[in-house]
Amino acid sequence: MTPLPLALSDSFGRRIEYLRISLTDRCNLRCVYCMPAEGVPYEELDNVLSFDEIEQVVRALASAGLKKVRLTGGEPLVRKNTPELAARLTAIPGIQEVTLTSNGILLARDAQALWDAGIRRVNISMDTLQEERFVKLARREEFARAWQGLETALAVGFSPIKLNCVLMRSINDDEIEAFGHLTIERPISVRFLEYMPIGQVSNAQWRAQYVSNEEAVATLKNLWPNLETLNDSPESTSRNFKIPGALGTVGVINPISHKFCDGCNRLRLTANGKLVPCLADNFEYDLMAPLRAGCTESEILAHAATALSHKPIQSDFEGRLARGGSLRTMSQIGG
Ligand code: 5AD
Ligand code: SF4
Repeated sequence: MTPLPLALSDSFGRRIEYLRISLTDRCNLRCVYCMPAEGVPYEELDNVLSFDEIEQVVRALASAGLKKVRLTGGEPLVRKNTPELAARLTAIPGIQEVTLTSNGILLARDAQALWDAGIRRVNISMDTLQEERFVKLARREEFARAWQGLETALAVGFSPIKLNCVLMRSINDDEIEAFGHLTIERPISVRFLEYMPIGQVSNAQWRAQYVSNEEAVATLKNLWPNLETLNDSPESTSRNFKIPGALGTVGVINPISHKFCDGCNRLRLTANGKLVPCLADNFEYDLMAPLRAGCTESEILAHAATALSHKPIQSDFEGRLARGGSLRTMSQIGG
């Protein structure tokens, strides 16, 4: 086994400070780019990490430099008592921040409890501002609840609220202007994400629907020639802009066209207890069996170090597509 690390890092010296935890592979939407319409094989609940197990992993990693945790899914609020877990994780020494990515549907119910648990930042996924289109894209009639969730999150005081929008050709690429207008009126950070080939998507389909961030930025600059470029922090995965006079900001995240792997400080933990060092790579490392066999915190760290020794230097989504694609959907890996 790899020697015990004092600070978690990978074979290329990148420090690992950020863990994204998928709390469940279940979701109350079926977004076209993420899950099939029907027949999603959900993980048995016995095979899902318990809150105690998640806390144990975070405690171990925090002792070796983990600072930040993001709770994802599936939809993390579909799992029972997510705010309770958030409170347990924010209390762990070394953990500076716990955040959440949600589709918003259950946020009207949970926003206050999440705030009380110590969460201050939430990302909300919303790919369209049109109700009818939402039904086609997310395959559920939930636009109003998702929007209500966003409004509640704003009212409770989360700041910034980031709204993730996956741009897809001929599906929602005509809404860049509408999302821009939203940032003029509301203190929301809209980020356009490049569509990544994850799950069951063919090379041809992905290519036909992919919209580069260069195109999104060009459209924004065309619409608002005085668009201000903001100074992003070095570890930021997004490039951000402000429409003059706007309350919010608009940005782009480009996993495909501009790889941001040099500064990658993250590791993922799936609901069924696998460590996934890179979203673009099928490699995963099982932590569930050692956890259930009663391993110690230092053994968890040693397992994490072994997993991280497989973290690639750069993402290679296209290479993986050429080799047959990804083995998991995004809802199984955690966004
Ligand atoms: N490409 C780009 N973004 C995706 N997401 C889910 N699947 C994909 C994909 N194939 C987004 C979700 C969420 C974030 C965590 O990842 O919409 O906002
Ligand atoms: Fe659910 Fe998010 Fe996947 Fe949509 S993208 S189906 S909201 S996990």
